[in-house]
Amino acid sequence: MLKRTLLTGLLAAITACLLVGCNQETRYGQEVGRAAPVSQSAATAGERFSAGERLFSQYCSPCHPDGGNVSDPRKSLRSSDLKANHITRPQDIVRIMRNPGSRMMRFDVTTISDADATAIAEYIMTSFKN
Ligand code: HEC
Repeated sequence: MLKRTLLTGLLAAITACLLVGCNQETRYGQEVGRAAPVSQSAATAGERFSAGERLFSQYCSPCHPDGGNVSDPRKSLRSSDLKANHITRPQDIVRIMRNPGSRMMRFDVTTISDADATAIAEYIMTSFKN
């Protein structure tokens, strides 16, 4: 049981590390040692959101300002359009980033890692309501 908790903590630390660039090693090291997965996941959720927000403005907002779509208003990132276009889970958005339609640029895994792509997708799904 303890082993499992430590493992979960370690995984969370690695994920957080990928998201924020590994410059908080000491703090995560201490959290893993303390085996406190609750506070750890809370910190991770906040960090994921800000990472998603930052990456979204860097890569997506030129064509999707405020979750809109400058060239196709029916394909915005707002929840009503996403739903109408059968995009219901973060991984659906990641899939589009990897294989977009003809007018959107492609973001491969060397440009945006899977962890970062998921953070962007989660940011989109929690931020742009109707
Ligand atoms: C060069 C402009 C451009 C950029 C940059 C861009 N997109 Fe798009 N996106 C589009 C266009 C245009 C469409 C409509 C489909 C098509 O023609 O490719 C679209 C469609 C989408 C859709 C489908 C929306 C729907 O309602 O069907 C998603 C999800 C999406 N983009 C996510 C992203 C994410 C995430 C990023 C940043 C990582 C991004 N896009 C960056 C232009 C862009």
